Amino acid sequence: MKVQDQLLEKAVPFIKECYTELGKSAAEIEIRLVEITRAIQHKGYYEHTLEELEHGAKMAWRNSNRCIGRLFWETLTIKDARHLVTEEQMAEALLSHIEIATNGGKIRPVTTIFPPVHDQSEAFKIWNEQLIRYACYETEEGLVGDPASLSFTKQCQSLGWQGAGTPYDVLPLLVQIGERAPRWFEIPSSLVLEVNISHPEIEAFEQLKLQWYAVPIVSNMRLEIGGITYPAAPFNGWYMGTEIGARNFADATRYNMLPRVASVMGLDTRRDASLWKDRALVELNVAVLYSYQKQGVAIVDHHTAARQFQRFEENEQKIGRDVTGDWSWLIPPLSPATTHVFHQHYDNEMKLPNFFYQNE
Ligand code: ARG
Repeated sequence: MKVQDQLLEKAVPFIKECYTELGKSAAEIEIRLVEITRAIQHKGYYEHTLEELEHGAKMAWRNSNRCIGRLFWETLTIKDARHLVTEEQMAEALLSHIEIATNGGKIRPVTTIFPPVHDQSEAFKIWNEQLIRYACYETEEGLVGDPASLSFTKQCQSLGWQGAGTPYDVLPLLVQIGERAPRWFEIPSSLVLEVNISHPEIEAFEQLKLQWYAVPIVSNMRLEIGGITYPAAPFNGWYMGTEIGARNFADATRYNMLPRVASVMGLDTRRDASLWKDRALVELNVAVLYSYQKQGVAIVDHHTAARQFQRFEENEQKIGRDVTGDWSWLIPPLSPATTHVFHQHYDNEMKLPNFFYQNE
């Protein structure tokens, strides 16, 4: 099948679904489809109206099988950045995304949508996995920082960026337009809201000097709406505590903090059966939730998030839409069986529009 037919084949069901959800008439759908068909014939592609872009992005969130936070899909704010042309403008739009999303701790779900790609050699690209992430350095004492960022940190360094060398250095933005050289831009620290981790009862936690950033802004996925691909479309919600407390700090391949948490708690780490890892995990997660709340930064615990997801499932069912999901991602990494998600089956079919991984 020709590329143009493939595009039309995806545009048609999108327009029908989108317009129906927005309460538009059959006539409006018809007129728009004629317009789109002509545009594809003449230019090889069509352009989304702002309404299509906004509702399409919300649908993409609603269809994100791995996301437990989908109850709030309709509250997404869309920043239309399709008119931008330079790397500087890109960086500026990303900094503005950080600021609008952070909102002093009252986090707003936002997605910024850069120009679509009709020709790979002209693609707008963000190299960061998330807009805010901590660097990783190889030192004589082993890795310092977030091991998840080791290769990206090296890439930034090869382009001339230098970090201070602490375990929590915020990486620069790295953007690229088409075949031009990628360019990096430092994120002013005044824009990066961070939380110091302390525990409500165990004072010794502060010795660990843990900190994390407020807003997770995933920036390496492409957004596909009605057959059109937006390779740069960073999006954010707020954190669920376990992402930080049970993974980023806890994974042996990340900050690997469980042995140190156990040590400040005075746990017996000689025997697995003392469940020292489990006890350390729980208190680490208590500390994360407590610290974000204390510093006025939005965060959700996994029990509340699961209940919100249940409401999402009920809402969707009422409207007559099937909820698809990826069970292995929806269950929280801490006490999964205490949530309803664990005891349920989810169909992992990929509905469109959606966000997809793309090649590095
Ligand atoms: N799990 C990722 C992290 O720990 C963030 C992914 C998106 N999370 C979110 N709550 N929207 O940084």
